[in-house]
Amino acid sequence: MLLYIFIVQLLILSLNASINEQRFPTLWFEAPSSISDYPLVNNCSSSSIMNNTSCRLIDPWLYLDRLGLYKILIQSTTHLMKTCSTSALFDGCNILVGLAAQLGWQFDSNRLFSNGTREISINSWWGSYNYYLSVIPFLAAVDKGIIHGDLFQIVKRDNFCSNSSECFNQVEGPMIEWSLFFDRLLHPGNCSFTDLNYMHDRCYLGPMWRAHTNSTINALPIIESKLSVLPSKNEQQFGLGWVNVLVLIGMARRNTNLVDMNNCQDLYLPKRILRDNDRPPRITDLPETVNLALQLLLSITIDSYPELVDDWVEATCSYKARKDARVAIYIVPVNKIVAAAFVVSAEAEILIYGCDDE
Ligand SMILES: *[C@@H]1O[C@H](CO)[C@@H](O)[C@H](O)[C@H]1NC(C)=O
Ligand SMILES: *[C@@H]1O[C@H](CO)[C@@H](O)[C@H](O)[C@H]1NC(C)=O
Ligand SMILES: *[C@@H]1O[C@H](CO)[C@@H](O)[C@H](O)[C@H]1NC(C)=O
Ligand SMILES: *[C@@H]1O[C@H](CO)[C@@H](O)[C@H](O)[C@H]1NC(C)=O
Ligand SMILES: *[C@@H]1O[C@H](CO)[C@@H](O)[C@H](O)[C@H]1NC(C)=O
Ligand SMILES: *[C@@H]1O[C@H](CO)[C@@H](O)[C@H](O)[C@H]1NC(C)=O
Ligand SMILES: *[C@@H]1O[C@H](CO)[C@@H](O)[C@H](O)[C@H]1NC(C)=O
Repeated sequence: MLLYIFIVQLLILSLNASINEQRFPTLWFEAPSSISDYPLVNNCSSSSIMNNTSCRLIDPWLYLDRLGLYKILIQSTTHLMKTCSTSALFDGCNILVGLAAQLGWQFDSNRLFSNGTREISINSWWGSYNYYLSVIPFLAAVDKGIIHGDLFQIVKRDNFCSNSSECFNQVEGPMIEWSLFFDRLLHPGNCSFTDLNYMHDRCYLGPMWRAHTNSTINALPIIESKLSVLPSKNEQQFGLGWVNVLVLIGMARRNTNLVDMNNCQDLYLPKRILRDNDRPPRITDLPETVNLALQLLLSITIDSYPELVDDWVEATCSYKARKDARVAIYIVPVNKIVAAAFVVSAEAEILIYGCDDE
């Protein structure tokens, strides 16, 4: 048993070794850090604003503008997260920084179809998916009074909602769930425990991942037409596979701070769009861990996924079980035997002690 724990520790250490510094997404320091950093225009058309009033124009189809939404969101919430307010990592400790890291990875790998510019193509499936994980939480946070500043208007493109009332009409679930997450930050008294790790799981990661998954499930049908624009069948399957895996990761409530997120992205996510002749685990220009992760991810079929989710619901329904489930899902691409042992341990935990209330 001790030897076994030792081997697992070694495995986790070797996976963690790849990155331990706080590396913010590309161009982070150039992105706006307050609403007043966005350009002032004098033709705002939003009906809540008097005609011809000036306001700040936010264009979420510009990478820097969208990254700025995250930066503002993160800088406005870190101090509200009790588990971060004393952390030396500051904003890097904030669990919303994982969203920004995902956007950065999408930009770096040209999944936003920027093709060397700083624009996000409206045809990009990834960029469209991320809209519901950036603009939506931002608007919910503004509604809650977490973010304030100048009047602003979000540039409207196609059928993407661009203000709170329109977004409530279009994607009510995500707006509600993100609001609930911000409620938790605003009313710490409603969710407070002496064990900070437990509190982090229950008060922050739980509501955040519920909102994340709600955004995902609502966004997928809306952006479906853009899937076929992805340049290869492999990439299409990878895109859908990755958002499905994110739902599983969300159930295990993995931490999404900067260090953990960068580590996971570096280990497992491809730094370029996949091509049809890519055959994991034998893609020569991608690292071995990325190859293994892709091989596993592409092996999950539409038929096998629902059953996987059902099993996973049972393995992740208590705090202690989730601690094992997190290790399992982190390690599974590189070591299925160790991962299986952790799943068994999570299931045993549930069998003996049952599920938590939330
Ligand atoms: C406002 O004016 C800018 C140019 O100053 C223009 O690009 C933009 O389309 C206008 N917006 C609206 C809503 O009319
Ligand atoms: C929200 O956007 C919609 C569509 O652009 C517009 O019709 C509506 O007036 C806007 N509502 C507010 C409160 O700004
Ligand atoms: C803004 O102008 C439009 C017509 O140009 C008018 O229908 C609308 O009521 C005006 N809104 C406000 C708040 O004055
Ligand atoms: C807004 O201002 C422009 C010129 O700045 C003017 O042409 C237009 O009529 C004004 N619109 C309203 C509704 O006042
Ligand atoms: C931009 O990049 C994407 C992905 O590589 C490609 O499919 C698309 O054709 C490119 N668009 C332009 C205008 O070059
Ligand atoms: C999304 O959130 C809404 C509002 O809380 C809820 O009714 C709905 O069931 C959620 N959907 C999913 C898939 O979790
Ligand atoms: C949370 O606490 C605040 C006061 O701090 C209270 O107004 C609110 O109703 C509480 N919400 C829930 C869901 O218990």
